[in-house]
Amino acid sequence: MLTETDARPRTLADLPEVQSDSLLQLIALCNADPRPEKIDVGVGVFRDGEGRTPILKVTKEAEQRLLDTQETKAYLGGRGDKRFAELIGPVLLGEHASRPGVDGVQTPGGCGALRLGFQLLAQINPDARVLLGTPTWPNHAPIIDGVGLEVEEYPYYERGQAVIRFDAMMDAIRGARPGDVVLLHGCCHNPTGADLDFDQWRDVTRAVNERGLIPFVDIAYQGLGLGLEEDAAGLRHLFAECEEVIVAQSCDKNFSCYRDRVGSLWIKSGSKETTARAMVHTLQNAREMWSMPPDHGAATVRIILDDAELRARWLVELAAIRERINSVRDHIAGADPRLTYIGRQFGMFSMLPLSKPQVVALRDEHSIYMADSGRFNVVGMADRDLDRFTTAVIEAMDG
Ligand code: LMR
Repeated sequence: MLTETDARPRTLADLPEVQSDSLLQLIALCNADPRPEKIDVGVGVFRDGEGRTPILKVTKEAEQRLLDTQETKAYLGGRGDKRFAELIGPVLLGEHASRPGVDGVQTPGGCGALRLGFQLLAQINPDARVLLGTPTWPNHAPIIDGVGLEVEEYPYYERGQAVIRFDAMMDAIRGARPGDVVLLHGCCHNPTGADLDFDQWRDVTRAVNERGLIPFVDIAYQGLGLGLEEDAAGLRHLFAECEEVIVAQSCDKNFSCYRDRVGSLWIKSGSKETTARAMVHTLQNAREMWSMPPDHGAATVRIILDDAELRARWLVELAAIRERINSVRDHIAGADPRLTYIGRQFGMFSMLPLSKPQVVALRDEHSIYMADSGRFNVVGMADRDLDRFTTAVIEAMDG
């Protein structure tokens, strides 16, 4: 924040130094490393056994159809592709998507949805605090901070034991003020891979209702854990039981369309009228930031979901992504007894029991790039690099 109060007009030169996002820094560091043997297990991008991030076959086909049939690029309006939202809603929420008081809108990725959702909550109650389990995705706190809401951290994960600190989580929820917000990861927790089981979702839902809190679910990896339906089961339970819920959803990973930035924001309230009003605020907020969401990725997802044959093929390709994640997890888990927990966790990420100096040494000595926290992308590397990776990690742990 600029604090000078003298009469001199402020300029760009007055901006304070600021660190860029740690994950974006890591991408830049890795890209700048000329060593051909480098291993990038930093950012969350799926890589196949060859180390590539292929465009899904079904996506290529849908894009071709889009190219062949799209006759105009005229604006679609603030909601973007409405049919996309109609189709992704049931994938995410099942039967709850069509209930009165539920509405969704296309956003630029899950990040756009998070920002819109938190902005709406800040408009409702600028004094609300957001309960954030740590560790969490490094961009959560800045987004919450960006809309002026206060973050209230609680410990979510016990690193030494590789377990969720569920009692601490429940204490935090029970100690929150009515009207506070609880941010929950829908599945494939980023960065720990440690997900709530269904009973825990039930307990959280009950406590959230008892305390009068607003749950906000961030779900960016649906289908990469146990399955498309299984990964949404906890969220759907909470969605059904709570009167007001916000959900930020992303297709970037489960449709492998990362840079196309495809996501949606979902709002549930007690009535159709309330949700409609919330949506008008939301669309105005979006208008001020990006006006209308980009079309290409959402249109591609819409074509896939709207065609029974393409949809079936997407499910097969998604299952292959999930199976690779889980088989690499098993492989790493089998490499050392200290890593067995990795086989019990879900999604792209887990955290290695490494200190920051050990992580930096892996980077410097072995050109292995992971987040300073020890978070690594289990499917960031090619099969040929797996053993080199686990050997280096085990050496570092022995260190
Ligand atoms: C990640 O956590 O690596 C991904 O969600 C990419 C991102 O935007 O941070």
